[in-house]
Amino acid sequence: MIEKFKSNAEAIATADKYLYGNHARMPIVMDRGEGCWVWDLDNNKYLDFVGGIAVNGLGHHHPAIVEALDRAKDMMHCSNYYYNEPAVQVCKLICENSCFEKVLFANSGAEANEGQIKLARKYAVDHGHPERYVVISMLKSFHGRTLATATATGQEIVHNPKWFSPLPEGFRYAEFNNLESVKEQMGDDVCAILTEPVQGEGGVRPASKEFLQGLRDLCDEKGILLMFDEVQVGSGRTGKLFAHQNYGVEPDTCSMAKALGSGVPIGAVCARGDAAKTLTPGTHGSTFAGGPLACGLAEATLDTMINGGVMENAVKVGEYFRAELRKLQEKHAIITEVRGMGMINGAELANNEIGPQIVNKCFEKKVLINCTAGNVLRFIPPLIATEAEIDVVVKALDEAMTELGV
Ligand SMILES: Cc1ncc(COP(=O)(O)O)c(C=O)c1O
Repeated sequence: MIEKFKSNAEAIATADKYLYGNHARMPIVMDRGEGCWVWDLDNNKYLDFVGGIAVNGLGHHHPAIVEALDRAKDMMHCSNYYYNEPAVQVCKLICENSCFEKVLFANSGAEANEGQIKLARKYAVDHGHPERYVVISMLKSFHGRTLATATATGQEIVHNPKWFSPLPEGFRYAEFNNLESVKEQMGDDVCAILTEPVQGEGGVRPASKEFLQGLRDLCDEKGILLMFDEVQVGSGRTGKLFAHQNYGVEPDTCSMAKALGSGVPIGAVCARGDAAKTLTPGTHGSTFAGGPLACGLAEATLDTMINGGVMENAVKVGEYFRAELRKLQEKHAIITEVRGMGMINGAELANNEIGPQIVNKCFEKKVLINCTAGNVLRFIPPLIATEAEIDVVVKALDEAMTELGV
């Protein structure tokens, strides 16, 4: 019988010895959670507004997820040589609540985006354009850390060519929310445009309606695919199943992951039109993708999101949150802008030094938040967060900024 670690210190000492150090971690060991709250091994209680980086959409230990986990015991895995019931239910739920006709499963956000990129290249060949293979993506985007998706990501710091060259060919970058910049990158070699409707890692930046509509028109004119990455902002986070539903602009394909499985790895590519017929047997797939365990949890997640009032809460409480952050902005000049949609919100700061300090101060106050793009405090809590929980975060931010004199 393996003996459990009894304290943060004991577990971290062992982690320092054995756990690969590719992540910079806060010095606590997560032990359990309930709603928006988590406890560490020393029994400290924290308010969790990182939410597994937008994964814990339903919070921790949600009864619908616990029940789905229990049901999953009957069958954890079966091969994609066969159908499984939860996978079919998930596809049905997604397609009946969106513009999409087909769903293809993956195991992560990066893998779903990798699927979109492969799909776009094959689509071009199938439509008589083997010369089209370039994907235009946006600067400050984030699409994953596999070689192709890291290269699709419009950030040099993720490419890291010094270590990871040669990077895959076939990616060019344009400025987000700048249609002219996209047109400058357009050419006969382009098979698709890829963008997040709201950039997450890039600093919580919602696209403008004109930008997304302009991309749609451009793709229609050129006969190429418009692909959205909704790994972070899909699955209800913006108050709709897909963020693009807030804009009324429909892509040809769209990726999902993160909150879709409430913590169990799952990704998906949703597609419509000819894009929904492109990846035929033998062209793409994965052993674990679309398995009954992950899909059982995704089914429960989507059912609760869509039919349990969760997305409505994300809209209402998200609005309250932005209003409170704007009040904070009036008091603390370090906040230069507040922006967001539903339950993805950000407060941009005047410089890059202060963000980590505010995160650390909040951590001392047992409130977990995160800083992205150098100077944007990002809040991606469970969609079930209440106004009272928002008040706890805003109070911690207020105190942190006052203590730091900003
Ligand atoms: C928009 C977006 N796309 C893709 C990814 C990659 O997802 P994963 O880490 O599951 O591979 C992320 C992760 O943060 C993301 O935010």
